[in-house]
Amino acid sequence: MELNIALLPGDGIGPEVIDQAVKVCDAIAKKHNHNIRWTTALTGAAAIDAVGEPYPDETHEICINADAVLFGAIGHPRFDNDPSAKVRPEQGLLKMRQKLGLFANVRPTFTFPSLIDKSPLKQERIEGTDLVFLRELTSGIYFGKRGREDDGNTAYDTCTYTRVEVQRLAKKGFEMAMTRNKKLCCVDKANVLESSRLWRETVQAMEKDYPEVEVSYEFVDAVAMRLVQWPNSYDVLITENLFGDILTDEASVISGSMGLMPSASLGEKTALFEPIHGSYPQAAGKNIANPLATVLSAAMMFETAFGLNDEAKAIRAVVDKSLNEGIVTEDLSGGNKAYTTTEVGDWLAENI
Ligand code: IPM
Ligand code: MN
Repeated sequence: MELNIALLPGDGIGPEVIDQAVKVCDAIAKKHNHNIRWTTALTGAAAIDAVGEPYPDETHEICINADAVLFGAIGHPRFDNDPSAKVRPEQGLLKMRQKLGLFANVRPTFTFPSLIDKSPLKQERIEGTDLVFLRELTSGIYFGKRGREDDGNTAYDTCTYTRVEVQRLAKKGFEMAMTRNKKLCCVDKANVLESSRLWRETVQAMEKDYPEVEVSYEFVDAVAMRLVQWPNSYDVLITENLFGDILTDEASVISGSMGLMPSASLGEKTALFEPIHGSYPQAAGKNIANPLATVLSAAMMFETAFGLNDEAKAIRAVVDKSLNEGIVTEDLSGGNKAYTTTEVGDWLAENI
């Protein structure tokens, strides 16, 4: 098969972890007789420096014409402490999500048996956790009307949702639940927010189309608590953009390292695959970052964008093997030998 993939390394550790995912993908392609054509493009601070824009039109053209996008990370500390900056790397990510119509962000959380002791949470609480968040990604407070009034002394951001936006995300949630344990949790704040009441009402109306799915409705504050107490009780969770942003960072603690969790963003056009971690600027250029979240994002890409399930399985298997044999970066080495980012990537590619 011909695989035409746009490669967006981005900022910080992005390029380093992306390099390892490329090695792994090339190894799997060789073994299964696929031909990958990588087209690299600029995003984030790297793009601002080069062309003054965090998601240039040329990058969009490359993404829109690709079969899938593999993305590293975005963000640079030089912009974080400057609230007056006119262009920010993160705007590139938001523009990309919007222009590619990536309304559904799939963020799985699972545990690795060999790493169960790495989580700060008690083993008996997290064992067997296998849940997935579907975070709405192109609407809500991230994209609502915002501004300043009163000579700059009052600021506002608004959260707006349409029924259609909720329906298309919820539909993916129901469908995903049908392929898993048939449980769906709608996370909202319907006791306070009107937009949440629209979410609840819309999801309730869809229940009859999926009679086998057991649907629950929970307030976001309660989910924040239950997620670390009884993560096992969840299967598929659907939620709006900001709640999903916050809860998926919280959920990553369950797996033991943010450097492990992959994600897929799906929608109307080309799908995008990226680790849930950020650009981790303190580690950039040090060859210490954990590449596994990006490698596992590539596995999601083979499965979701190309329907190549054996290839995805093989990638997950080699990742498990590296964890079992302790071929891990310093975030997971726990006092034992820590391998560099490139050593882990090389080992994975060789073992494929
Ligand atoms: C994420 C990130 C982004 C978000 C930032 C970098 C804009 O935190 O992908 O979760 O808030 O969506
Ligand atoms: Mn986030």
